[in-house]
Amino acid sequence: MQNSRDKYIPALGYSWLTSLYDPIVGWTIKESAFKTDLLQQANIRPGDRVLDLGCGTVTLTIAIKQAHPQAEIVGLDCDPTIIKQARTKAQKSGTNIALVQGFSYDLPYADSSFDRVVSSLLFHHLSRDNKLRTLSEIYRVLKPKGELHIAD
Ligand SMILES: C[S@@+](CC[C@H](N)C(=O)[O-])C[C@H]1O[C@@H](n2cnc3c(N)ncnc32)[C@H](O)[C@@H]1O
Repeated sequence: MQNSRDKYIPALGYSWLTSLYDPIVGWTIKESAFKTDLLQQANIRPGDRVLDLGCGTVTLTIAIKQAHPQAEIVGLDCDPTIIKQARTKAQKSGTNIALVQGFSYDLPYADSSFDRVVSSLLFHHLSRDNKLRTLSEIYRVLKPKGELHIAD
C-alpha cells in the first residue's frame, strides 16, 4: 500500500511532461555545464561505488559511467515512468548502469555501501521532513570517508 509520504513531484511537476524532460531541460537550463562541474567535483576514483540519487533520465548517471568506466554506478528514482525512460536511454548509450525504483528516504542498500552519492535537481522536490530523512539515509549508506555532492 502506498504511504502518503510516498507521494512525489514528477521531474517537471506534471507526469505528462516527463517524456519531454530531456529536450525541455536541455533548452532551458545550463544542464551540461553544471552536471560537468558536479561530476568533476565528485572526484570519483576507479573501483568506487556511486549512487545517483533522483537520477531521472540518467544524463548524469551515463556521464559518470562514461568518465569512470572502472566505477560501479547505480541510479535510483522513485518515478516508474522515468525509470522506464532511463532504462531505454541507458541501453541505447551502451553503458552498464544499474537502475532501481525507490525513494531517497528509504534506500534499499546496506550501511556503508557507497563511496559517493551524487544528486542533481532532486532536493527541491522534497519536503523538509523528506530532506532530513534523505540526508540521514545518505549518511547511512555512505562509507566512513564517503562523500555527498549535490547540485540544486
Ligand atoms: C528535476 S528531476 C532531476 C533528474 C536528474 N537528476 C537530473 O538532474 O536531470 C527530479 C527527479 O527526482 C525524482 N524524485 C522526486 N522525489 C523523489 C524521491 N523522494 N526519491 C527518489 N526520487 C525522487 C523525480 O522522479 C525526478 O526524476
